[in-house]
Amino acid sequence: MGRTSRTKKHPLPDWDTLYRQGTPPWESGVPSGELVRVLSDGVLKPCTALEIGCGTGADAVYLARRGFELTAVDNSPTAMERARGRAQRAGVLIQFVLDDIFSFARRCGPFDLVYDAGFYHFMRKVDLEKFLDLLWRVTRPGSHYLTLAGSTGETAEGGPPQVSEEDIRCELGRLFQCVHLRPFHFESPSRPEGYLGWSCLMQRPKVGM
Ligand SMILES: C[S@@+](CC[C@H](N)C(=O)[O-])C[C@H]1O[C@@H](n2cnc3c(N)ncnc32)[C@H](O)[C@@H]1O
Repeated sequence: MGRTSRTKKHPLPDWDTLYRQGTPPWESGVPSGELVRVLSDGVLKPCTALEIGCGTGADAVYLARRGFELTAVDNSPTAMERARGRAQRAGVLIQFVLDDIFSFARRCGPFDLVYDAGFYHFMRKVDLEKFLDLLWRVTRPGSHYLTLAGSTGETAEGGPPQVSEEDIRCELGRLFQCVHLRPFHFESPSRPEGYLGWSCLMQRPKVGM
């Protein structure tokens, strides 16, 4: 696609330290309720899937239980160790990869489904072009991309990074067609009512763009 990466605009959190310190604010320990709803909608059938930034693996285990052939990537050794333990206890097979997703994407094949809960919403501020390039590499025509992202509609402090509906349509619309874009609430250990987010399911056009 000939995309070039720009200089970083936002610093990245020290993810592993946040896991080592205890339970980070995004970590509910259970599968995302919105992921469960999306799968029950029936659009996504078991297929090859990549989870970007799988954390401690609650969603990964859920996807594997639902029959997805899952590769789950995270660059935090602490999160990865917890994710592997969770999968082992659940008795599911997942290919876990402890790596930077941008390095891994150079050597993995495309997937039918790419999923992230809480990756696009921070990475778009760090380097959007680099992230779109990654999505292009790990998908093929017809692939789906599901992202759960913080919403600018949330007024409470302490929630996930926020993105507007317009920005999602503009940014992800460069690669994908929108299947659904709807509000939901992220579960969070720090707020019982959670935080407002966007559930965004996209599909790469079957004919190349
Ligand atoms: C906001 S957390 C979300 C974790 C998980 N999806 C969840 O909902 O619990 C973002 C995750 O992305 C991982 N991560 C950040 N940058 C990464 C990178 N370049 N490559 C792989 N994983 C990364 C972090 O370690 C962290 O687990």
